[in-house]
Amino acid sequence: MNRNNRRQGRKLRKIVSGSSIAKDLETARSQLSISNQTRAAEIYKNILQLKPNCFEALNNLGMIMQAQGELAVAERLYRLAIKSEPNSAEAYNNLGNVANATNNIDKALQLYRKAISLKPNYPEALYNAGTVLHKTKNIRDAVTAYRMALKCNPRFLDAYCNLGIALQELGNSTGALDCYKNALAINSDHPLAQHLASSLQGNETDTAPLDYVERLFDECAENFEHSLVEELGYSIPSVLRNLMEPYIRKYHEPVNVLDLGCGTGLMGVQLRSIAGNLVGVDISKNMILESKKKGIYDSLYATDIVKFIRQTEDRFDLVVATDVFVYIGNIEPIFESTLQAMNPMALLSFSIESPSSIEKDYTLQASGRYAHSRAYIERIAKQYGYIIKRTTPTRIRKENNIWIEGYCCLLQVTS
Ligand SMILES: C[S@@+](CC[C@H](N)C(=O)[O-])C[C@H]1O[C@@H](n2cnc3c(N)ncnc32)[C@H](O)[C@@H]1O
Repeated sequence: MNRNNRRQGRKLRKIVSGSSIAKDLETARSQLSISNQTRAAEIYKNILQLKPNCFEALNNLGMIMQAQGELAVAERLYRLAIKSEPNSAEAYNNLGNVANATNNIDKALQLYRKAISLKPNYPEALYNAGTVLHKTKNIRDAVTAYRMALKCNPRFLDAYCNLGIALQELGNSTGALDCYKNALAINSDHPLAQHLASSLQGNETDTAPLDYVERLFDECAENFEHSLVEELGYSIPSVLRNLMEPYIRKYHEPVNVLDLGCGTGLMGVQLRSIAGNLVGVDISKNMILESKKKGIYDSLYATDIVKFIRQTEDRFDLVVATDVFVYIGNIEPIFESTLQAMNPMALLSFSIESPSSIEKDYTLQASGRYAHSRAYIERIAKQYGYIIKRTTPTRIRKENNIWIEGYCCLLQVTS
């Protein structure tokens, strides 16, 4: 083969691989559009063998890896994508998402700002910057960021919801309700917008949507204890422990304890010493991760309370729920199902927020949380076979520097 032929051959290979990469990228895009991430990832990996600096493959494979929880791999891919296309706002935004997911908040904000500087009308980056500002309590700046995101994309549902929440935090309920209504005009079934709008309109609902609760606590898990205990004066776990003390003292052996909505494990800490088996259940995976770090639970489940109780074959001596029923209006299914998972003479102990009006069984308040009337607790306790042993009025936590009043209850099954 002479030099001319070799050159021709190289040129041909380049054309062939160039056109096959374009085809493969097209195939990967269509696999992504049908949510076949596994196949798309395989294609991107093959492309990167042929063309290691292919921006689209690096960036999209990064997103797939991130969705699979492979944050370090995703970060490496995004950095390579930025090396390949230094002015890519998308890659900077994605890198910001990795920083955000690993709670590197300052870094995340810096990366979102870089993305916005490269592409000023970029709704996702503006929204993401808003969520980080919101998390760090820069509420006014968060409002500005959400509004800018909505200017770029007036159908951005999550931006409406978060803007509403931020406005509510600034005391602007009318503005907040407008936001929820705008979100519902786009999707009338949106659970978060429905719940938040209902809470401001005084509509009755039976429970907060589970995905709302999950998201709420997934987002605040890392900071939960600091903000609840240090800033908002939350001390219900120790109040509940004191309420139970005379009964707990009677235990001669370690008991089987179930902590419903265990969160980061504040109640578990109070009960570890008396528990032979301590089980925690919470809908928020991030809260479960935090409670795992304490190393006090024998088992932890990231699921809905009622679903767990209905499926468990364990039988418990003590079931607790601190600051959990505020996310559930109708607690009858819990009273009913818990009964099936309890040993004779077992205890059920929980905290409740007091309603401003006692006419209704439970009320969805403007805060998005439920308050339950004492008459309701007394009625359903009797209906499902519990005796109310002790109650104590208590301050649940502060909100806008005002104490939220409530009470703690200790019930015992009658047989
Ligand atoms: C305010 S936190 C209280 C956490 C903990 N009990 C404490 O006292 O620190 C409420 C917790 O209940 C959980 N939760 C609310 N509704 C739930 C449900 N239906 N199923 C499971 N967990 C739920 C939330 O995810 C959250 O972690």
